[in-house]
Amino acid sequence: MSQNNTLKTVEWKDNSVVMIDQTKLPNILEYVTYTNFNQVADAIRTLVVRGAPAIGVSGAFGLALAVLQSNATEKDELIQFLENAKKILFETRPTAVNLAWGLDKIMQTAIQSNTVDEIRNNVVETAKKMADEDIQINMSMGKIGSDLFDDNDTIMTHCNAGALATVGYGTALGVIRATKDSGKKIKVIATETRPIQQGSRLTAFELKHDGIDVILIPDTAVGYTMANGLVNKIVVGADRILRTGHVYNKIGTYQIAIMAKQHDIPFYVAAPLSTFDMKSNPEDVIIEQRKASEVTGIGDKKTAPDGIDVINPAFDMTPPELVSGIITENGIVKPPFEKSIRQLFAAN
Ligand code: MRU
Repeated sequence: MSQNNTLKTVEWKDNSVVMIDQTKLPNILEYVTYTNFNQVADAIRTLVVRGAPAIGVSGAFGLALAVLQSNATEKDELIQFLENAKKILFETRPTAVNLAWGLDKIMQTAIQSNTVDEIRNNVVETAKKMADEDIQINMSMGKIGSDLFDDNDTIMTHCNAGALATVGYGTALGVIRATKDSGKKIKVIATETRPIQQGSRLTAFELKHDGIDVILIPDTAVGYTMANGLVNKIVVGADRILRTGHVYNKIGTYQIAIMAKQHDIPFYVAAPLSTFDMKSNPEDVIIEQRKASEVTGIGDKKTAPDGIDVINPAFDMTPPELVSGIITENGIVKPPFEKSIRQLFAAN
């Protein structure tokens, strides 16, 4: 799944959106085709497509379908239709800021266009461009981030921040791919990532597919591998990064960062600029709560008693003091993050 060996996670084809159904991986590689923005909203909600950059582009493609679906003949009417579609797409998943970023970018394009025909054309073209740029951004980020990794490193990653979480190549896994492509010999430790196993189902699948040496561990073995010197560095993706350097990512990231601190292991985050939220404070960020059945069973098999109470947050927050550096397409920022992130955005 390197850029030349592309399985595109999400793609615009013949006025429809084609996605890999990630709920079926790794056992079945199946593509689904959507022609209606409501279908895309359902796909985001049910994790057919997931990962912050992938849902950002999927949201944009959802609005591209909406402009083609609408029969509006006046600009105001079409914008109204798009606002409604945007609301439905936006409400699917609250934590990854890339979704709002993708939707806002398309709405801006629509509002700045003059006629209904111009809106239709510009919205579709902008969404396609966002998808192409996602791959280029990940490849730049990968190259920049690869400098932080050395020959013979064993790198831990969590969840899936790979080609499947983006349009292609990946953020954290993009850095890993670029490190390998630079000639360094590396190994990866992938956490299983309960409850729905993006690590074992997706990260292990992608890395094996690309011939990258990968070892799978249960989430509960993170401390063991660190304490026994089996990990040198960590790189994860992010769903939202605040201007203060607070990182929101898949549930379990925070405990990995704490253990990394305890064992003096560098903890890096790789994320594009579209993952930064420069306005919110930690108390503003909504952590998505998912259904109990993800925890009370594995696949279709029940593994907990009926009626058990469950807490199932999809994400957690890692505070800036646990983060060694954040890799972006425009450079690596280091602590103190409030200052380095401000400088990064001022320069762009
Ligand atoms: O619930 P998911 O699978 O959408 O969560 C994905 C993650 O947490 C990823 O680590 C994050 O989106 C970064 S992806 C490049």
